[in-house]
Amino acid sequence: MSQRIKIKALLQSGETGTEVTVKGWVRAFRSNRFIALNDGSTNGNLQIVVDFENTDPALLKRITFGAAVSITGKLAPSLGQGQSVEVIASEIEILGDCNPDEFPLQPKKQTLEFLRENAHLRFRTNTFGAIFRVRNTLSFAVHQFFQEKGFVYLHTPVITQSDAEGAGEAFHVTNFDLNNVPRTDTGEVDYKQDFFGKSTNLTVSGQLEGELGAMALSDIYTFGPTFRAENSNTTRHLAEFWMIEPEMAFYDIHDNANLAEELLKYVISYALDKNKEDLEFLTQRLLEEEKQKPQNERSELSLLDKLQFCLNNDFERLTYTEAIQILRDSTPNKKKKFVYPVEGWGTDLQSEHERYLVEKHFKKPVILTDYPKEIKSFYMRQNDDGKTVAAMDILFPGIGEIIGGSQREERLDKLETRMDELGIPKDELWWYLDTRRFGACPHSGFGLGFERLVLFVTGMGNIRDVIPFPRFPKNAEF
Ligand code: 4AD
Ligand code: MG
Repeated sequence: MSQRIKIKALLQSGETGTEVTVKGWVRAFRSNRFIALNDGSTNGNLQIVVDFENTDPALLKRITFGAAVSITGKLAPSLGQGQSVEVIASEIEILGDCNPDEFPLQPKKQTLEFLRENAHLRFRTNTFGAIFRVRNTLSFAVHQFFQEKGFVYLHTPVITQSDAEGAGEAFHVTNFDLNNVPRTDTGEVDYKQDFFGKSTNLTVSGQLEGELGAMALSDIYTFGPTFRAENSNTTRHLAEFWMIEPEMAFYDIHDNANLAEELLKYVISYALDKNKEDLEFLTQRLLEEEKQKPQNERSELSLLDKLQFCLNNDFERLTYTEAIQILRDSTPNKKKKFVYPVEGWGTDLQSEHERYLVEKHFKKPVILTDYPKEIKSFYMRQNDDGKTVAAMDILFPGIGEIIGGSQREERLDKLETRMDELGIPKDELWWYLDTRRFGACPHSGFGLGFERLVLFVTGMGNIRDVIPFPRFPKNAEF
């Protein structure tokens, strides 16, 4: 048998006349003669021509949708439409049968909901093949971007004692017998007897530890799983998601915004280059999907145009205060079309507001800075006005917030005062405060939600479709 070659490589550079071996899964078998074979290296199927008159009928019967097969044969120019080459099979081996009466997938269009319930099999569809190849490229591009800039990839812990965002949305980690939790004399849970001797949780952000690294290595980034027990059943939230968190010494908020914009453009451009075929496929998929919608709800730009648009335009930069003014004066606000009316300065922006700014008002990505300190985390640098902090959120069309970050408060007294005001225990974060005691410097960082990025680039509508096995309230299947 000749050496196995992947279908993508074969379609790109295979020389006709040579003998090849390909392995993959049957996507279709027509007229007892033509197999469409896919091995996941590309959405393009390879056509296999079977000499059915000289093939055992029992074997032919086993070439069914979903079966795993190995084929050896000669590569030949194809006369049929839709492919330039095909393989004239001389040897067919069934590696794994797939009974069509029992196989949950069918060779027809199936709903995303159905495929979510069958997430163990959905990789075998064109849509999910494309999504996960794009996801792979994006994650590689993130590393490439930071590595080219000399950032150090830092692995921050998954189990921690801190809740960096202070939102109280952390999952507990314990090895207590939950039916018999040890308690103190006063009836509280006695964490001293737990595995770590303290209350611990899954990390909601690697930022605080990342900052420690940046205070010596200058520029670091993390890229790891992050966990939040927020009970939001939306198309934008997961209980387990991947976050990229760079942290840079000597960067102010503007340097921070510049880096974030450059990163987003770099990885999008990288995917456009590396996954052209997949993105063309996903663009077509979205067009088809949007045909079901009324004209006024369809996107003005196709997916590919939207990605290109993002690369060709500067992101709009403005302050929270300016954004509130725009929202207050906006038609939907005046006509009471927002579910949450924009009233005064100081309230948090809802995703409907973010999307209005990005999709209707500016029609491009927006970087919002200088939010009221009350709605942001304790570690953000306090501005001189006494009311706002040097926060930075990046808002994307169709997504809302894709990045959240800030310049960090490096002044010990200001940081401690803020922690006291918010009731954040200083003794638990002694190590964080130490960086403000010894060689503190201005520094900044941000967090990019990786699945929100994949959502944007693939044009999918639900975050549960861009991570292999989504975790969300009441679901941890697979
Ligand atoms: O805005 P967040 O909460 O910021 C932080 O965690 C900071 N510590 C980051 C930093 O400055 N180093 O989260 C950052 C991003 C959000 O903008 C969003 O893209 C994503 O993480 N994100 C989620 N993605 C999916 N599901 C969730 N439940 C998410 N929560 C946040
Ligand atoms: Mg945020």
